[in-house]
Amino acid sequence: MTATQPRSTTTTQPYSVEDWNSGYRSQPNEHDYWIADIEGNIPAELEGTLFRNGPGLLDIHGHPVKHPFDGDGMISSIAIQNGQAFFRNRFVRTEGYLAEQQAKKPLFRGVFGTQKPGGPLANAFDLKLKNIANTSIIYWADKLLALWEAAEPHRLDPATLDTLGLDYLNGLISPGGSFTAHPRIDPGHHGDRRLVGFSVKAGLSSTITVYELDTQGNALRQHSHTVPGFAFIHDFALTPNYAIFFQNPVSFGPIPFLLGFKGAAECISFNPKQPTKILIVPRNGDPMQVIDTDPCFVFHHANAFEQDGQIVVDSVCYDSFPSLDGSRDFREVDFDHVPAGQLWRFTVDLASSSSQVAKLVTRCVEFPSLHPDRQGRPYRHLFIGTAHGSEGNAPLQALLKLDTHTGDTQLWSAAPRGFMGEPLFVPRPGATGDDDGWVLVLMYNAERRCSDLVILDGNDITAGPVARLKLPHHVPYGLHGSFVDQYFGPRDGRGEA
Ligand code: CO
Repeated sequence: MTATQPRSTTTTQPYSVEDWNSGYRSQPNEHDYWIADIEGNIPAELEGTLFRNGPGLLDIHGHPVKHPFDGDGMISSIAIQNGQAFFRNRFVRTEGYLAEQQAKKPLFRGVFGTQKPGGPLANAFDLKLKNIANTSIIYWADKLLALWEAAEPHRLDPATLDTLGLDYLNGLISPGGSFTAHPRIDPGHHGDRRLVGFSVKAGLSSTITVYELDTQGNALRQHSHTVPGFAFIHDFALTPNYAIFFQNPVSFGPIPFLLGFKGAAECISFNPKQPTKILIVPRNGDPMQVIDTDPCFVFHHANAFEQDGQIVVDSVCYDSFPSLDGSRDFREVDFDHVPAGQLWRFTVDLASSSSQVAKLVTRCVEFPSLHPDRQGRPYRHLFIGTAHGSEGNAPLQALLKLDTHTGDTQLWSAAPRGFMGEPLFVPRPGATGDDDGWVLVLMYNAERRCSDLVILDGNDITAGPVARLKLPHHVPYGLHGSFVDQYFGPRDGRGEA
């Protein structure tokens, strides 16, 4: 244990706040290199490219962002082939990023509370959003797309990470439109894969539009559904026949935002006496069914599947919206006073319009990942980030493997000085079990103040990394990413980059 400054007198923390904070430094530099410092061996069968997105800048020329979700999107790629790996990172050249870097100061308000210099007067009634492209990245129909849920995707070159411009998904969305940061890939049957995504227009009532794209990127279906009240929906769950949305019981009081005192997301409040609404949208466009469940707040769903006329949804649930304390810098967050995510299982019965809830994992978890072929299907194994300790809220420092059939778990912890990002499960070629593969995690190593890509064997994560790729710099804590089977590194081999 090297915790240097415990913040709580009642528990011993497996980390120091200074270590945790040091992963929230801006990374203004862009790199291209073969990763030289590797502990262990990259599995020879592992080939493809890991793409990650997240805030690369936590300040704009010395003006700190108020919340990391307001930081400009930076893409990292690690291309893996023949046991070697090539790293590259680039900022998404959004209009706002380019303008602010030229002006050397913030020109836009952030959704999560970042304000332009000059106080409320300088911010009041400025409702322009900066499309910061910082939340996720997908590769679909030969397009690499950086996603931010309130605006259009940005398209990048998968080999160079150069920004090519805004992308409207072959005309599916209009200029000024938006597309979720959490589309899901339906593995389909007989090669019929589909990308399913959505957009939300939230207000006094909210309209959700569901989109389905074929492997060429063309729209197959599009249908809209309106619900009363404000809908803050970040993610959804997918089955072969349904798209499932959770309408969290929150309301939006925009006055402090309009007057320039707060960011839009700081004006959201949780209503603990109202139910969470499960919106079951048939993928064929039929009317949706709305089923109440216990009040909870969901950012991310792990998976869903249909079984015996019921729909099972596994989700990371918070007791309440982890509301943003406008007076605090996010670096000073007191984990003891913020709700922790837990894995809950909702079993929804369509015939009786009822739902049941059970807790699958009660320790603090976030960022679920599973075998891509099990998306929307019955599945056995889930990989998810977790805190080192089994109780309370804390930064993610460990990886949990859950056997949903038996309830058995495996744990690998990087505490006290390692901090986890989102794990991604990559199947071994020819794998049969849905844990037969590797788990890739870009994590922050506070001991080196640099990031490591760790590769674990999905069959037994307790054995620790089979390979640890040590980057000679840090990547600030990120959000989401994806693994693509194609290798997008240099073609001419090691040392010729
Ligand atoms: Co997310």
